[in-house]
Amino acid sequence: MKPIVAIDGPAAAGKGTLARRLAATLGLPYLDTGLLYRAVGVRVLDAQGDPADAATAEAAAQSLQPADLDRSDLRGPRADAAAASVASIPGVRVALLAFQRGFGARDGAVLDGRDIGTVIFPDAVAKLFVTASLSERARRRWLELRAKGIEAEIATVEEDMFQRDAKDAARAAAPLKAAADAYRLDTSGMDAEAAYQTALTFVRSRIGTQ
Ligand code: CDP
Repeated sequence: MKPIVAIDGPAAAGKGTLARRLAATLGLPYLDTGLLYRAVGVRVLDAQGDPADAATAEAAAQSLQPADLDRSDLRGPRADAAAASVASIPGVRVALLAFQRGFGARDGAVLDGRDIGTVIFPDAVAKLFVTASLSERARRRWLELRAKGIEAEIATVEEDMFQRDAKDAARAAAPLKAAADAYRLDTSGMDAEAAYQTALTFVRSRIGTQ
């Protein structure tokens, strides 16, 4: 059977870097599911809509096209906030469910997000819940933004992240939380290499049991 590796956790915990590398090593396709919510949010903003309006956001999710995921404006504070708004709308999550399940169905996959191990693939062979302290995550995101030429105050990045995590964890529809059987990986004092090695050892041990 082709394995599903589910990687969940709060903002900027290092899920993407880790997931991409695990996928390459294991020869599995990789999906950054946050991009789906970001693309829906930005489509709503394009049409001068309100990302918190259910009917508008659901229509944008239902008509999402693969090319929407290639846009260059899916990162940054504007897209962050729009993504978190549309992500709390149940109809948006329903519209994006089949695509995510279909992505992993044929060849297996590594997916990262907030609800992969709890809702999208509750039977995933390996589940990781990746965290780091708020200040460390804010510092990492601030560096990423700077590398992209986006100037921001680190305190603002931290406050926005705190608010977005709180919103993701408090929502009724598929809230951010660790699956009961997830391996918790706190990357606070770890560099990307150490996080990768720890995660790979865990995933290999799980795939070996399949
Ligand atoms: O890169 P970062 O961790 O900051 O965010 P992301 O993974 O791209 O997700 C952006 C937003 O999309 C999150 O704050 C969530 O509100 C939402 N999201 C979600 O609800 N479920 C997912 N599986 C992935 C993202």
